[in-house]
Amino acid sequence: MRISVIGTGYVGLVSGACFAEIGHDCVCVDVDASKVERINRGEPPIHENGLEALLKKHVGTRLHASTDLRAAVLGSDITFIAVGTPFDGTRIDLSFIREAARQIGVALRDKAGYHVVVVKSTVVPGTTDEVVLTELEKASGKRAGADFGVGMNPEFLTEGVAVDDFMRPDRIVLGGIDARTIDTQRKVYASFAETPTLATNNKTAEMIKYTSNSVLATMISFSNEIGNLCSALGGVDVADVMQGVHMARYFTTMMPNGERVKAPISSFLWAGCGYGGSCLPKDTKALSAHGAAHGAPMPLIDAVIETNLKQPARMLAKLQAQFPSLQGVRVTVLGLAFKEDTDDMRESPAIPIVRMLAEQGAVVTAYDPIATDAARPLLPDTVTFAGSLAAAVDGAQAVMLITRWEEFQQLPALLNGRAEAPWVIDGRRVLAPEAFARYDGIGR
Ligand SMILES: NC(=O)c1ccc[n+]([C@@H]2O[C@H](COP(=O)([O-])OP(=O)(O)OC[C@H]3O[C@@H](n4cnc5c(N)ncnc54)[C@H](O)[C@@H]3O)[C@@H](O)[C@H]2O)c1
Repeated sequence: MRISVIGTGYVGLVSGACFAEIGHDCVCVDVDASKVERINRGEPPIHENGLEALLKKHVGTRLHASTDLRAAVLGSDITFIAVGTPFDGTRIDLSFIREAARQIGVALRDKAGYHVVVVKSTVVPGTTDEVVLTELEKASGKRAGADFGVGMNPEFLTEGVAVDDFMRPDRIVLGGIDARTIDTQRKVYASFAETPTLATNNKTAEMIKYTSNSVLATMISFSNEIGNLCSALGGVDVADVMQGVHMARYFTTMMPNGERVKAPISSFLWAGCGYGGSCLPKDTKALSAHGAAHGAPMPLIDAVIETNLKQPARMLAKLQAQFPSLQGVRVTVLGLAFKEDTDDMRESPAIPIVRMLAEQGAVVTAYDPIATDAARPLLPDTVTFAGSLAAAVDGAQAVMLITRWEEFQQLPALLNGRAEAPWVIDGRRVLAPEAFARYDGIGR
């Protein structure tokens, strides 16, 4: 099929490259000309495992980037909208969605045949039918249903493993105003015929995405609340508590050979220094605001958000228990991205943690295997960025682990044998406490 994708961020570019991989012709459109140039040179503007290889393979043949939205729409059968939907402090900001829909509508005015427009961005329930469809009809002068279809296909990819998630989906959700819209989307995903696919209306598709993200955020904040109680009680470690919880058959399947297989969901039932990224923080806030605006306040989601906002300060409290004054204390922060395997800094808990450390007068060194360039503009000027893990921890009085990078498992080898062992504060509970002379962590 001939596909156009509007927006070449994490979702748009990964989707476009994967559409090319499964045999479609795809044009990825962005207003940012520098991104478009980079993509057309085969260079991904973001770090995502496997993305560069796909660009090298398909750019110039099945995959092109362009700033010309009109030409992309006119030259394709289906257009996916993958622009940003930030939270503006009060509610979801739909200005990028509205503008993309308007521009697609203007192009459709001159299109002879039937076309399908699908929202892939995360948008609050009602947006596709009430905002996107309306803008398309207004700008095109045509009728949804008769002249074009309008669908909603939420994206469930996880940053860092987005290409793999796309190529091996666990589910495909297809919303649409009618059967023709759904059938056109089915053709796009024909290579994944074995994947469970749910066809529904647009509002349900939108709600599925918010519910999926909200349940994950809820499990994280729940675990953090349990961890904070463990810390306050003493003599009980949340890591042991959660291991005991995971052993329940809802979370761990016992195989016929006696082997226990943990369900991936249990990784969200684990205490830490808080969730971040481009989705969970903004989507929980947008859902709560949408609920309140529709007479259905969401106090549980509000508490999830509140617990998460307070979690970075718990890391500071752990450090201050060892260093009552942080003035002049040499603190190394390990991991800046909101999660491992990505350079995405959006809403990373590292940002408030580093800012609080700097405000308290700590001498901060930071290290991340790949997110340093993205982090630099977001952190205070006083922070020193190390080029390697060994250099980062050299001379540190305290080491705070914020991101679960595999590389950080080398810490015991790097720190042990020092005359004065630094304090290790584990914000993700991924290190073995007994491997360190001085160790504390969230929920301990
Ligand atoms: N990042 C994720 O892990 C993830 C996962 C699932 C869903 N989502 C959702 O997908 C959407 C996009 O997220 P993202 O992280 O890819 O965003 P992003 O901010 O990385 O990228 C959005 C891109 O759209 C471009 N853009 C904006 N308006 C445009 C227009 N009119 N024409 C062409 N290009 C335009 C921007 O320049 C930018 O490059 C959001 O709604 C997000 O919630 C994100």
